[in-house]
Amino acid sequence: MSRPTARVLSGIQPSGQLHLGNYFGAIAQHIALQERYPGECFYFIADYHALTTVRDADALRANVHDVAVTYLALGLDPEKALLFRQSDVPEVTELAWMLSCVTGMGLLERAHSYKDKVAKGIRPSVGLFTYPVLMAADILIYDATVVPVGKDQVQHVEMTQDMATHFNEAFGAPKDAPYLHRPEVLLSPTPYVPGIDGNKMSKSYGNTIPIFASGKSLKKIVGRIVTDSTPLGEPLPADRCNVFALLSLFLEPSEREEVRTWYRTGRRNGEPFGYGHAKKLLVEKIEEHFAAARARRAELEADPDRVEAVLRRSAERARQVASSTLDRCRRACGIR
Ligand code: ADP
Ligand code: TRP
Repeated sequence: MSRPTARVLSGIQPSGQLHLGNYFGAIAQHIALQERYPGECFYFIADYHALTTVRDADALRANVHDVAVTYLALGLDPEKALLFRQSDVPEVTELAWMLSCVTGMGLLERAHSYKDKVAKGIRPSVGLFTYPVLMAADILIYDATVVPVGKDQVQHVEMTQDMATHFNEAFGAPKDAPYLHRPEVLLSPTPYVPGIDGNKMSKSYGNTIPIFASGKSLKKIVGRIVTDSTPLGEPLPADRCNVFALLSLFLEPSEREEVRTWYRTGRRNGEPFGYGHAKKLLVEKIEEHFAAARARRAELEADPDRVEAVLRRSAERARQVASSTLDRCRRACGIR
């Protein structure tokens, strides 16, 4: 089967509640791309990858469902984009094995994400070490041309490019008909979202604002965003402020400039302006931005069969593509 001219692919781990970093760094772009590449967007919930950290079967199942509901609520249209469970296409694990046989240890040893986790004291499993191989298989098995991800995943996509080349060279693919195709990264327009403590927002740092947080719990989380101790009414440093960075995600350029002026002068409409006001504004923006999605989410929660049907239908199509690539690779390396 020949490669499509454009095929978008990305995965997201079901390892906890999705947050604003995931939304602005990944999900928003995934959903926008369905308009540009209708029928060619493949998104999956990386449950095999989540096994590197999750040890609770019920929690994993619940997280998978939650990711699916979140994408659908935020506007993923199953007529335009596929949304499936990684494990519903088990062919990907076989391709991962083939790739692991042509991948040097050195390539994996250089992975920042692996090194960071080990440096944080996580005892690495073999699965954590070979995580990028499975990720490469995810990308290559669907002949993806474009992989939209946040900054932290760029190195993994570059490793995927290397693995595709190694496989093609190892098994003597003709130059004009490679077995596996090198994908390109598409970096999100907002590749870095800070968490409430100012570090990268991440499930593993406990510093997230969940996409659907609202009411009292949202106020409480936003209230905990770390700021300096400039008193009310004094000029505030917008460019060093986590609240401003988060607010900016929700503001049009002209609004952003207006808020910047409030920061610079420490006043809004003649009244003193401080971090408390900025936080209140952030709460309002988050509530407003996700109001419609929150309502759709409630509907989807009440209809789990509808969500499951989307996952299954998408997996069927994805599996057809995956089987065809796997066949090609098996023939290339002499398996059956
Ligand atoms: P987490 O760090 O919370 O475990 P994941 O690694 O599961 O998040 O990331 C899923 C997607 O969301 C990836 O494409 C990643 O690049 C993006 N992403 C995660 N956190 C952020 C962030 N703080 N800023 C921008 N993008 C992010
Ligand atoms: N590693 C990605 C993350 O943690 C998730 C992922 C798995 C992925 N397979 C992928 C992303 C393939 C893009 C393409 O965010």
